[in-house]
Amino acid sequence: MKDRTKFTHLGRPKPTIATPVNPEITRASTLLFEKAEDLYRGDVRGYGRHGSDLHDALELAFNELEGGAGTSLTPSGFAACTLAILSIVKSGDHILVTDSIYGPTRDFCEKFLADMGVEAERFDPRMGSDIARLFKANTSAIISESPGSLTFEIQDLPALVAAASKQDIKVIVDNTWSGGITYNPLELGADISIHAATKYMGGHSDVLYGAVVSRTDALAKKVAKTRKFLGFHCSPDDTYQILRGFRSLHTRFAVQEQAAEELARWMDKQSYIRQVLHPALESHPDHAIWKRDFTGGGALFSAVFEPASIEAVNSFINGLKYFGIGFSYGGFESVVIHCDPQMNRKFSDGFDGPLIRFGCGLEDTEDLKADISNAAKQALNA
Ligand SMILES: Cc1ncc(COP(=O)(O)O)c(C=O)c1O
Repeated sequence: MKDRTKFTHLGRPKPTIATPVNPEITRASTLLFEKAEDLYRGDVRGYGRHGSDLHDALELAFNELEGGAGTSLTPSGFAACTLAILSIVKSGDHILVTDSIYGPTRDFCEKFLADMGVEAERFDPRMGSDIARLFKANTSAIISESPGSLTFEIQDLPALVAAASKQDIKVIVDNTWSGGITYNPLELGADISIHAATKYMGGHSDVLYGAVVSRTDALAKKVAKTRKFLGFHCSPDDTYQILRGFRSLHTRFAVQEQAAEELARWMDKQSYIRQVLHPALESHPDHAIWKRDFTGGGALFSAVFEPASIEAVNSFINGLKYFGIGFSYGGFESVVIHCDPQMNRKFSDGFDGPLIRFGCGLEDTEDLKADISNAAKQALNA
């Protein structure tokens, strides 16, 4: 069965008479038992935080999406990042974090974990098997994100995995950009794949959600246990929205992925653009690795503009009619941010012009191009 078909059917209740198409939302903290003897049996849910049939159905969807052995759901994508890391890393460990990781994850490693006695060292996202040079006896995890947030470096995951396997180092990949549709880190040997389901699965910019998918049963159990210790719970209403999002995920993703690539190729030809950062472009430094490991793109890319003042950059962004000015992506509306104020890199000198990130929504691509042209004419004299 193809994925598009799979996600319209999986995790649904078997029709009997007038059965709803999705599992129903059950709201509960207390779960009642007929007999006191059953309170502590352990083989059934005892409390609302232990989930519901709806949560089980969504876990199944993530397992199927990634080919994973088990999924732990989290109340945000960022919580999925911290849960995955906390499941593996302990005080006294050394971890390697890609220089291009999502900013809050980098801060978590370099600030929060540092206070817990963990040494977080950044690695160059383009170093591949050379990463072995950075291994120490206490290295326990490599934290990767491909492509990198804001700057879109593709990492050589098979090379990272091969190096890590010599020392039982776990490889965690933030797989948000591909939606799990165009990249399968677990198949390439990673131990954990993370999703900020807030993006494509939510699809409407109104739910925060995350998932940690593990390759092995043992690791899935470890993550689930950590999640329980941390007390993470996902509201049934949000869980319903994310499962609902899965039904149309592939169709929306296909439109947004195609729009992003088309827009990226078009922008690459505009006079006010210095460089487009989208791995599908042949000019991208990691295009060959992307072509080898990915089956497609994502809804998000960045562009380096010709040098311009911060006022001109803000005026360009303010002049866009169809791109909402805001963080995140994967929703129905295209979004834009200026990246430079949050850039924090050790292995890159930055770019020779302002970096602006575009997330494509479901609008017509020709309208998006016209919008960018108009804003560029007014703000950049293009
Ligand atoms: C790559 C990546 N990982 C994690 C997150 C965090 O997701 P959330 O906003 O659901 O906490 C984001 C959000 O932008 C992201 O882009």
